[in-house]
Amino acid sequence: MKARSSFSGKLGYVLAVAGSAVGLGNIWRFPYLAAKYGGGIFLLVYMILMLTFGYALIVSETALGRMTKRSPVGAFQFFGKSIPFRLGGWINAVIPMLIVPYYSVIGGWVTKYLFEYLRGSTEILAAENYFPEFIANSFSTGFWFLLFSLVVVAVLIAGVEHGVERVSKTMMPLLVILAIFVAGYSMTRPGAWEGVKYFLIPNLKNFSWMTVVAAMGQMFYSLSIAMGILYTYGSYIKKDVDIEKSTTQVEVFDTAIALLAGLMIIPAVFAFSGGDPNTLKAGPSLMFITIPKVFASMGFGRGAGIMFFLLVLLAALTSAISLAESGVSTFEDQFGLSRRKSALVMGGMIVGLGMASALGFGVLDFVSLLGMSILDFFDFLTNSIMMPVAALATCLLITKVVGLDRIAKEVEQSSAFKRKGLYNLFLRYLAPICIVIILISSIANVFGWITM
Ligand code: PHE
Repeated sequence: MKARSSFSGKLGYVLAVAGSAVGLGNIWRFPYLAAKYGGGIFLLVYMILMLTFGYALIVSETALGRMTKRSPVGAFQFFGKSIPFRLGGWINAVIPMLIVPYYSVIGGWVTKYLFEYLRGSTEILAAENYFPEFIANSFSTGFWFLLFSLVVVAVLIAGVEHGVERVSKTMMPLLVILAIFVAGYSMTRPGAWEGVKYFLIPNLKNFSWMTVVAAMGQMFYSLSIAMGILYTYGSYIKKDVDIEKSTTQVEVFDTAIALLAGLMIIPAVFAFSGGDPNTLKAGPSLMFITIPKVFASMGFGRGAGIMFFLLVLLAALTSAISLAESGVSTFEDQFGLSRRKSALVMGGMIVGLGMASALGFGVLDFVSLLGMSILDFFDFLTNSIMMPVAALATCLLITKVVGLDRIAKEVEQSSAFKRKGLYNLFLRYLAPICIVIILISSIANVFGWITM
């Protein structure tokens, strides 16, 4: 058995978790969901969920990881070997394996945009139908997807993820500075102020039940909750890391980046498309439609485009690598495969499932899974169905088997557990009830039993 690596210290841990949390979820996914599901009201619901639910789940997963010193499959089996324990662990472990293929498709899109900015296509990218035409071109999307995936698989095989980690840590501050700058520019365009208001001021008129469903899925996604990642990270930390405090730091950092991304993209929708509801509801394509328009209107749009897509590409790469890495370590631990074999199996999954998602807008666009494109389907399956189930499994493991007291003891080994009351209330009642309601409503929505 190889020794478990551990983080160098408290800061190292917070940075690693923040590094995993910040990715395409913040820059690409959050703004399009906020635009689509009500702007300010989405933001408000998201914040409330994050500070209560998200907080309780991060603490839970981290504490369980630290207590058992295992990744999710092992952590669940630490407490029992029967089927429910196996299922609980596996659902947490499978989620990142299903996310990384379609994550890599978006990574491919980002790579393509970087390439085009390098070539000087600033104006072309801002043209009305550029993006839909690009993703409908199967050869082109397939190519950029494969390129991105090859880099991910190569890093997995070489096992140099720590080097990449280091690069990303210096790049992150740069991304923040550039984002502040672009957000400032975008917010001061004529007409943009309406967008700032739409994004920041809650308006009940824009509320729908889907606002809550989408906000909850996004909270899991963005904070890397309910995908086994935090178990694994928790298993690397020593008993002196203050779990409560580091959770708060990660939440603040992750939300700050998402807010910045929202301020770059949503005001731009209003400035450049007059807040057109169709653009607001563009979904996954929103970033690729609005950001090029912002850059094309700037004097030095090409430079900004190169910087922006380079930094987003790095954030996407590091996130994709850490998602895939968690799959690789599951294969290694559970099936005793060598690192190389595990990486190849993971690579096969990325290429197979990812290619289907990539071509889902091109030659495979006749495929509709429950009314969704293949990429949207995987996003929905993982975020709206599997993650709630995985979170529920964690809640049940704690309340029915481990006991809230043991979690409290684990947290208290490093600091006072200030929000214990809130935590217990959430785990025992609110979290399970909300999860079940949300799960039922998102299934009902897909099958058209209720419209939201
Ligand atoms: N939280 C990341 C994001 O917002 C996604 C991710 C999850 C990355 C888990 C790594 C591990 O994009």
